[in-house]
Amino acid sequence: MISEELIQKIKEQNDIVDVISESVKLKRVGRNFVGICPFHNEKTPSFSVSQDKQIYKCFGCGEAGNVITFVMKTKNMSFIEGVKYLAEKANIELNIQGTNKEQRDKNEKLFKVNVEAARYYFKKLQNEKKVIEYFTLRGILNNTIRKFGLGYAPKGWHNLMNYLKAKGYSELDLLNAGLIVRGKNNSLYDRFRDRVIFPVFDYKGKVIGFGGRVLDNSKPKYLNSPETEIFKKGTNLYGLNFSIKNLKDRTIIIVEGYMDCISLHQYGITNVVASLGTALTSEQAKLLKRYADKIIISYDADLAGRSATIRGLKILRKQGFDLRVLTVPQGKDPDEFIRNNGKEAFMKLINNSLPFIDYRIKMAKYGLDLKNREMVMKYINKACEIISELDPVEMDLYIRKLSEETGINEQAIYDSLTTKNQKNVKKSQHTYTENDFGQKLYLEPAYMKAERNLLKIMLQDMDSYRYIIENFNKEDFILDSHKKIFSLIGESIENNIENIEKHIEAKCDDVESSKEWIKVQQIEFIDDDYKELINDYIREIKKFKLEESKKEIMKKIKHYEAKGFFEESLKLVKQLQKIQADIMQMNNNERR
Ligand code: UTP
Ligand code: MN
Repeated sequence: MISEELIQKIKEQNDIVDVISESVKLKRVGRNFVGICPFHNEKTPSFSVSQDKQIYKCFGCGEAGNVITFVMKTKNMSFIEGVKYLAEKANIELNIQGTNKEQRDKNEKLFKVNVEAARYYFKKLQNEKKVIEYFTLRGILNNTIRKFGLGYAPKGWHNLMNYLKAKGYSELDLLNAGLIVRGKNNSLYDRFRDRVIFPVFDYKGKVIGFGGRVLDNSKPKYLNSPETEIFKKGTNLYGLNFSIKNLKDRTIIIVEGYMDCISLHQYGITNVVASLGTALTSEQAKLLKRYADKIIISYDADLAGRSATIRGLKILRKQGFDLRVLTVPQGKDPDEFIRNNGKEAFMKLINNSLPFIDYRIKMAKYGLDLKNREMVMKYINKACEIISELDPVEMDLYIRKLSEETGINEQAIYDSLTTKNQKNVKKSQHTYTENDFGQKLYLEPAYMKAERNLLKIMLQDMDSYRYIIENFNKEDFILDSHKKIFSLIGESIENNIENIEKHIEAKCDDVESSKEWIKVQQIEFIDDDYKELINDYIREIKKFKLEESKKEIMKKIKHYEAKGFFEESLKLVKQLQKIQADIMQMNNNERR
């Protein structure tokens, strides 16, 4: 846990205007700063930053938050990561439990021994003719060898071990770093022998592990460091440290292998990382999201590569990337292709990369003969499953394409879609509407405001607070973030916390609750008959819930009736009548 005081200090020393200015161009207008909102697409600025209050707010999309949530959202970090990031920026020491001093010292040792090993391998390469020839043959230039710190682990069992022991490292250090291995008879020996070495860097450029490739066709082709405290599978991407320098357009290309990544960099395509032949994880996807919005994935076109591509795409999609798939022709890998055809040809492949959905639809067609009726139906079914995940406008587009391609009429495709689509309707929390100037305005359901107002009134005076907790429970709130704030307010008041606002701010450690807390604080009441207001707001929330269950039941009734389950449907009709009556009652109360 990071203390509230420390969080406060970190916020004070990271002025929100400075931090946001790093990624958003802000202009002073009166007391505030305005700019183009980084959270939604817009042309005229509706994003406003208040230096006095140290918060930001967007009138276009409703986003709001403080300096920590801004970092969390734009760099895709957790609360702790965001706080750490800002602490580092302001040169503030953090002593977080969990990453205690002992572990940190251990990790530092691992980094140090890894750098020493990397230097050793690099030096060994310089006087080993056959390795220099190997790289020359593969078109790798001297500069590239330097940039990526490539090296060579000599033949023999104890070269590195003896070298590092002489430098003062213990056997345990080397074992912990995975540089040496304990054999069956307890003997220790170098893990990498007679292999070309690829040091693996983390995004900060620290050496965390190694890959070693044979110089011939023997197996295994690549040998990698085992998992260590600093080399964890699925947390890193090879080449990321280089890619994020001078990254343009927030676009990153993912390839499979060391050599693909290195080769593309050498040819001047530097926004490339390698996943090193393993399946992408959501942790890697989150890491990428800090730097990119668009991902182009370029894996092998063989069967294994294709399914790895789809799996990877699904993981990446959860982070909301614009996704493309790049296919290298004739079963070549990116390294071979660019060496044979040059940079321009590869740039063409990039420009021709297929959007995620198009790629999946193309794959759905794979091996199906569209002259065969049955296969056409199979194709339509598979494609519909993919299309059903889209929003209506896109859906329309793809249905038209599909219809043109197969000759099946659009209505028929629609019909087979609607059954699938029902599973995918999500309850959206807000809608957009256009104002008179054609600008999109943020609209939200009335219950959200009602919930916020209740939270604000809890802080007005003790009578109102008591009245609310007697008549409304945590679970009555619809938004989870409001439940959390409700608990925090209760807890602060019952424990006589001095500065409630600051206390709650520090405890709202996720983007949603932080945003809601800022919105709650900004509410001002004109009317101060709180009891009356409280009753209104509670009614508003209950009404929303009733309306929702009404919709739900009506859907079920339709379903039962279509299936001929009249008894079940009758039961539901009675429930519906009861709800209807409750709603009427509420409306009457309102009018009184
Ligand atoms: P590739 O065989 O496609 O790699 O495997 P590459 O970089 O193109 O290899 P060469 O040098 O041009 O022949 C993709 C990645 O899978 C991992 C490595 O990270 C490799 O870069 N891999 C592959 C292993 O870890 N072990 C293996 O035995 C093979
Ligand atoms: Mn290759």
